[in-house]
Amino acid sequence: MEVGIEGLSIAFPEVYLDLAELAVARGVAPGKYLDGIGTRRMAVALPEEDTVTFAARAAREVLERTGTAPDQIGLLAVGTETAVDHSKPVASFVQGLVGIGPRCRVFETKHACYGGTAALQLSLDWIRSGNARGKKALVVCADIARYGIGTPGEPTQGAGAVALLLSDRPELLAIEAGTAGIAAVDVHDFWRPLYSKDAMVDGHYSVQCYLDAVSGAYQHHKELVNAPPGLYSDHFAALAYHVPYGKMAKKAHRQLRSLDGDVDPDASFERLVAAGLMMPAEIGNIYTGSLYLALASLLENTKAPLAGRPIGLFSYGSGSCAEFYTGVVGPKAQQWVRDLGLPARLAARRSLSIAEYEEIMRAREDLDRRPVGGAPGRDFSFLGVDGHRRTYRGPAQA
Ligand code: HMG
Repeated sequence: MEVGIEGLSIAFPEVYLDLAELAVARGVAPGKYLDGIGTRRMAVALPEEDTVTFAARAAREVLERTGTAPDQIGLLAVGTETAVDHSKPVASFVQGLVGIGPRCRVFETKHACYGGTAALQLSLDWIRSGNARGKKALVVCADIARYGIGTPGEPTQGAGAVALLLSDRPELLAIEAGTAGIAAVDVHDFWRPLYSKDAMVDGHYSVQCYLDAVSGAYQHHKELVNAPPGLYSDHFAALAYHVPYGKMAKKAHRQLRSLDGDVDPDASFERLVAAGLMMPAEIGNIYTGSLYLALASLLENTKAPLAGRPIGLFSYGSGSCAEFYTGVVGPKAQQWVRDLGLPARLAARRSLSIAEYEEIMRAREDLDRRPVGGAPGRDFSFLGVDGHRRTYRGPAQA
């Protein structure tokens, strides 16, 4: 049975910060953020937005675009590392907001940026096993990446969600079974203690951990497929990497091609990777969703037809667990993503001033205790906390 991604949609804030302006404000040469780190803009979540509202928005859109009734969903998982409650999963809020019925497994998965891929792979196995009995899985990867004002990680923040409808009709990407290369190791490269809203990171060490994980997962995959010697990765039409920032994907690709024995590993970057970095450069790191944002970006921006061609995907979550897996692009994939109208939606966003951005960052400090109030202005809104209960409004309650 072929299984994989039947539909995909993306939600992101309507405001962003220009990183050249941030560099000037921090007394850093803009070239460091734009070329050295390889990003241009980062999405900033407004106070009435959070992981739940992004996840619900993306989930509702993918159901509508695929014509999937909520009762066709038999498994709803949200992969996130920026959940809103220690116990109640983001997925339960999403269930309520988009109206998914009771005969559904609903839960959250966590392993830093790998949490979404973990949910995806387990959901695909659930469908392959026959236990889905014709039902589909909805996996949403949703996060707000936050390191704090003035930290080295500040230009690598972002916010948003990617919803993936998984089924035995993989019209976007048929995902290969049994050949995913895995690399997991207990490291402290990036983490977020229970008492902190901001991530802690040993930045340069995290880069090395990511690169080690590329080696481990890719070598494992090559063993599983009995890869012939030589430039094995040339048989992929494209490669999508987890993108905390663009330069990291470039380093990852250099590492992967070196493992293939390529003496000029950067030469294939434009051909295999660059199309996947255009949208991440507009939105920033969205943690669990970053790999799937790169996938959407490569489908949107690759001019040549990709239908029927294999691609490779590398997922990395700090802490760490990583996976290199493969899929075959479906007949509708490129048109599907173009129909989402992402370039126009990105262009319609508003640029924040540095003062506005810093005010939003400060306001987020107290959001988890903010009483219900304010005027919700969008499809899904976080209204505040009522008797220790987070309260949202969705279109159904509008
Ligand atoms: P930093 O230490 O401030 O930057 O922070 P740097 O000094 O390493 O410089 C960065 C690059 O800019 C260097 O290039 C410089 O040469 C260059 P590289 O050597 O890397 O090729 N540069 C310039 N280029 C052009 N013009 C200039 C200029 N000046 C310098 N004027 C760091 C960088 C990434 C460490 C920081 O932003 C950080 O800590 N970010 C967060 C952690 C992170 O994203 N790690 C990535 C791997 S771990 C991961 O991906 C998992 C994650 O997504 C979390 C999860 O799993 O949940 C983070």
